[in-house]
Amino acid sequence: MKKTNSFNKAATAILFLLCFGERFILSFSTSTPCALRATTYGNVCVCNTTYCDFLDPVSPVGDDGIVFTSSSKVGLRFDRILGKFSDKKILIKDLEELSGLMKGLESVEETVTSMLSMESEESNRNTKIQIDRNKKHQKFVGFGGALTGAVSYNLKNLPQELQDSVYKSYFSKEGIGYTIIRMPIGGSDFDLEPWAYNEEPEDDTNLSNFTKLNDLDEDKIKQMERLKSVANIEHIKIMGSAWSPPKWMKTSHSWDGFSFLEEKYYQTWALYHLKFIELMQENNMPVWAITTGNEPLNAVLYSSLVKFVSLGWTPNTQSHWVADNLGPTIKQSKFKDVKIFCNDGQTFTYPFWFVVMNMTRKESIDYLDGLAVHWYFDEYYGPRLIDETHRMMPDKLIFNTESTVGSKPKLGSWADGEKYTINHMRDLKNSFNGYIDWNMILNEEGGPTYIDNFSSSPIIANETSGQEIYKQPMFYAIGHFSKFLPEGSVRIEAAKHSNKDVDTVAFQRPDGTITCVISNYAQEAAVVNLADSIRGDIEITIPPKSLHTIEYN
Ligand SMILES: *[C@@H]1O[C@H](CO)[C@@H](O)[C@H](O)[C@H]1NC(C)=O
Ligand SMILES: *[C@@H]1O[C@H](CO)[C@@H](O)[C@H](O)[C@H]1NC(C)=O
Ligand SMILES: *[C@@H]1O[C@H](CO)[C@@H](O)[C@H](O)[C@H]1NC(C)=O
Ligand SMILES: *[C@@H]1O[C@H](CO)[C@@H](O)[C@H](O)[C@H]1NC(C)=O
Ligand SMILES: *[C@@H]1O[C@H](CO)[C@@H](O)[C@H](O)[C@H]1NC(C)=O
Ligand SMILES: *[C@@H]1O[C@H](CO)[C@@H](O)[C@H](O)[C@H]1NC(C)=O
Repeated sequence: MKKTNSFNKAATAILFLLCFGERFILSFSTSTPCALRATTYGNVCVCNTTYCDFLDPVSPVGDDGIVFTSSSKVGLRFDRILGKFSDKKILIKDLEELSGLMKGLESVEETVTSMLSMESEESNRNTKIQIDRNKKHQKFVGFGGALTGAVSYNLKNLPQELQDSVYKSYFSKEGIGYTIIRMPIGGSDFDLEPWAYNEEPEDDTNLSNFTKLNDLDEDKIKQMERLKSVANIEHIKIMGSAWSPPKWMKTSHSWDGFSFLEEKYYQTWALYHLKFIELMQENNMPVWAITTGNEPLNAVLYSSLVKFVSLGWTPNTQSHWVADNLGPTIKQSKFKDVKIFCNDGQTFTYPFWFVVMNMTRKESIDYLDGLAVHWYFDEYYGPRLIDETHRMMPDKLIFNTESTVGSKPKLGSWADGEKYTINHMRDLKNSFNGYIDWNMILNEEGGPTYIDNFSSSPIIANETSGQEIYKQPMFYAIGHFSKFLPEGSVRIEAAKHSNKDVDTVAFQRPDGTITCVISNYAQEAAVVNLADSIRGDIEITIPPKSLHTIEYN
């Protein structure tokens, strides 16, 4: 049973009450605010062919100015207020009308409680955040999402206006500032069927039939061209990842199941990657990076569970392939600057995978520019294993290359958004330099996927009507980081004291601006005392279940 409430956009623009002592000031700063709609699991922002929400970037003014951008379970979505350090106290508040409406909402996962308990509980919810801009950590490269066959198909089925809204929402400055696309080389689990280049002729070591991109990839090229033009960006950093070679290169001769690459095709599989890079270049979509292949253990340890295109590697076999084939083939070609990321699998294989690679073929490590990690099972392993790997190889980039909530979409779920917030906080507070999400847009079912392995996505298309797309809380959760952290942002120390339900991470951008993201996971409001080593203190009261990005000079 679905219960649907629509709010008009004027209501969403008045979400913020800014408190200076006794005075309340309403803010209308969002140019095109979220068109909020209550759905089964919470609120989504609805875009149709004539409307979509965007937020212009603004810069904090002078030494004193602070820009607050906020989202909350109740219904804030990139709502913005402009404040000053000299205000001393800032109250960010959900609109009570909305809180009331949310209370009447059915929610399967959790009940919305004590939304309005802001004042009563605040005394024991104090958190101190100490920003020290002299303590610098890793430099950030960027954020992105995946252009799978499923995403490309979903985009194609939408009217041009909505396609453009997806591109702008993710990649423009008014959107959430993505700069990276992960693109499968061949098919993936999110495709209409399994496929690879040069399926025929078989046993063709020279890949004589891999001479042009196929229609599926030509569609993706057209979509990326359109993306660049409507989002007004010059470059996309494309990361190619292969799921599986054509069946004839594999020991199994099938798309899924237990398999390895036939040793006689090691060089052919390296050549396959080079050909893809060459053909993308010919189509004016240069490849920025490749990975050594998606989730190498799927076809080894999990071959009975994983029912989709996969190629198995052990760290031992992969080190030979990288050292003798992939590494030299790429780095001795005119595409030597294409970065090679390794592993593209789960956290629990770190650092073991690289220790074995190094033991087997030391040179294989030298060919690697980066390490690619998927977020699955992170709640059990945490960042410890990645930190250990980072200490082993401090000069390699570390990217999250896949994150997804693996179930049919729970439209409007703040809890799903929180999974992203928690993961971004964890990765960014550790050694990660980049973050790439999985499918950019799926249908209501969480597909299409040829193996019916549905999952959720930050934007969901209404495939039934083709007239609306829904931006989920996940989209804003990612955006609170990605929109505000351009390439070259450097993490700075943000020490947090007390209140386990509040988390934070801070960066200094190349333009010098300090960007601090603060999350509140509690069902109650939190009082945050932000102390900057130069600007002094400010007390910020944030609503229950909310996420904020704070920018100041
Ligand atoms: C599109 O969305 C806007 C904002 O919510 C709304 O005013 C308009 O009526 C919608 N148009 C259609 C055709 O639904
Ligand atoms: C080359 O591949 C296409 C499919 O992409 C196939 O139709 C054709 O038969 C192949 N050519 C040869 C010589 O196998
Ligand atoms: C691959 O190409 C090489 C050199 O161009 C040639 O000598 C060889 O016969 C070809 N192999 C096949 C299987 O076509
Ligand atoms: C690889 O192993 C050698 C010892 O054989 C060690 O000196 C080196 O530090 C290792 N490299 C990495 C990246 O762990
Ligand atoms: C989808 O595939 C993953 C393995 O990647 C598996 O763990 C999961 O159970 C599958 N889900 C469904 C619905 O088949
Ligand atoms: C998709 O649009 C149809 C037609 O307007 C509507 O009945 C349906 O509820 C929409 N789906 C979602 C998930 O909102």
